[in-house]
Amino acid sequence: GPGCAAAVADARPRAAEAGSPDALAAAISAFEGCPLKRMGARQPVFSRGKPDAGVMLIGEGPGADEDQRGQPFVGKAGQLLDRMLAAIDMKDEVFITNTVFWRPPGNRTPTLEEQMVCAPFVERAIALVRPRLLVLVGGASAKFMLKADEGILKLRGQWRDWRPAEGGQSYPALPMLHPAYLLRQPREKAKAWQDLLSLSERLA
Ligand code: URA
Repeated sequence: GPGCAAAVADARPRAAEAGSPDALAAAISAFEGCPLKRMGARQPVFSRGKPDAGVMLIGEGPGADEDQRGQPFVGKAGQLLDRMLAAIDMKDEVFITNTVFWRPPGNRTPTLEEQMVCAPFVERAIALVRPRLLVLVGGASAKFMLKADEGILKLRGQWRDWRPAEGGQSYPALPMLHPAYLLRQPREKAKAWQDLLSLSERLA
């Protein structure tokens, strides 16, 4: 809607002015343009991990545990994600964020508008961290970041290029299955393992 374009226009200079991930966290905190902020979220959830990591993971959005603690991927799914990263020795070598920074009510998938309004901050995070590559965790992240129509079961494991909306360097991006999905469908873990190996090989 019309409010979305204005919110995106408001987000861009705020994101651009942030010179570090800490400054970006403060800019997100002060930003009033994301509708999710007024839908019951307790606090913004921006990132955890190394600000100069070689790998940046982008999930969907905060859930209840993240909303409570103010950090991404700290609930059950996050614990599985950490175990997956530990399996390839990457647990402490990543920077983790999401496509939106406030918990969607009832853990629904964030809308395209909510993702668009937060995107300038996600892009700025990528520009500040300058990782070697991106991992897009789950369908809502992969589809939004890559502007792709295919589902995650099609996208996963395929290296794509992510290009910033405002131009500049592109990044190799790997869509992966979401750990929350793997908790419900443990047989799908074999596919996630393939993708972790692909990530590990690409880094080697
Ligand atoms: N699921 C996500 O996509 N992100 C989180 O931070 C937590 C759960």
